[in-house]
Amino acid sequence: MTTSPPLSRRTFLAGGSALALAGCISVPNRDPIIVGAAPLKERAARKGLIIGAEVSAPLLADPTFRNTLTRDFAMVVPGNALKWGPLERRRKVLDFHNADAIADFAAAHGMMMRGHTLLWHDMNPKWLAKHLADRRKDAARLIRRHIKAMAGRYRGRMHSWDVVNEAIEPKDGRGDGLRNSLFLKALGRDYLALAFEAAAKADPGARLVFNEYGCEWGWDVGRQRRYATLRLLEDLLDKGVPVHALGIQGHLDPGSDGSLDTRALGQFCDAAADLGLALQVTELDARDTSIGGSIESRDRLVADAYARFLDVVLARPATEAVLTWGMTDRHSWLTGHFPRPDSGIVRGLPYDADYRRKPAWYALAAALDAAPPRPGRENAAPDAS
Ligand code: XIL
Repeated sequence: MTTSPPLSRRTFLAGGSALALAGCISVPNRDPIIVGAAPLKERAARKGLIIGAEVSAPLLADPTFRNTLTRDFAMVVPGNALKWGPLERRRKVLDFHNADAIADFAAAHGMMMRGHTLLWHDMNPKWLAKHLADRRKDAARLIRRHIKAMAGRYRGRMHSWDVVNEAIEPKDGRGDGLRNSLFLKALGRDYLALAFEAAAKADPGARLVFNEYGCEWGWDVGRQRRYATLRLLEDLLDKGVPVHALGIQGHLDPGSDGSLDTRALGQFCDAAADLGLALQVTELDARDTSIGGSIESRDRLVADAYARFLDVVLARPATEAVLTWGMTDRHSWLTGHFPRPDSGIVRGLPYDADYRRKPAWYALAAALDAAPPRPGRENAAPDAS
């Protein structure tokens, strides 16, 4: 399948004047096409797809953020609010206020929500690693209790949960490619089945997702990651463990040669779908950290990465959702975690820091428009109108 390349700015403006002629109003200081462009969530819903974005609770108080979010997206996912560290910094003192604010916002605006994440090796409370190491006997109980508290609280309200995040790390040197995380150290590889089973019990209606990064890398380690992921999922499914979907994070890096192997990605998607799994793109962005040149050319490369990646994933009927990790470059983890040599803002998201649509937005829109419909699921999203 092919998608037309991202439109150049000149083409947008040409489109904008056509719309102006067709009677659309143009908003001062903004690209005129904004007035007429169909929201992403409409384009997605037409195909039976869900489009969502990562948010943090304080941003929901900002009207520009809120309005852009609700216009374009049908689903939210908290970036950090449901991670074990922010949630239970002090043992047995659970702080759900940010996650609850996001859940309430979603409900008030007819949006769906994903949960991120029940178990991750990173951003855990300080007390946890020590606790697990000291009391291996209790580790299973503690993890089950955590999952029950989290997934149970939002029972019936989550479309899906990232039950385990980033459990693969071939560099840790194990034959099975699993990450030697604190959970693995405490319980061996059984922690994975235990986590999915506990999540299914706590929220039987949620789609349970195994979420991973580096699935699209062309390098050797990318191949190892894909192999380890598929073997693990196959093993879990063989044992009857309730895993429903594979989450492909999609943190793209168009400035690094070999960071996107579309052929390998396509085969990986097909192999996961053959196991009976649904696919979700859970954290899409594309950093321009190591790309020089003008803003226009940087934006074009970012948009091109979106297009190439989405073309492959959306061509697969098993794909049901695409979430970007953030929405505007004003609030993106990329600028802090992958700083540019010129210390500028990293432009990895569909909207720039002033909420102007970037070529990446148009690439996303075009990819949704080009996606084959999911039979029977068209306009299934609650707020598709
Ligand atoms: C990131 C958050 O966006 C940052 O705010 C935080 O400092 C670090 O984590 N993969 C994941 C996400 O699964 O949880 C990460 O989120 C980004 C990479």
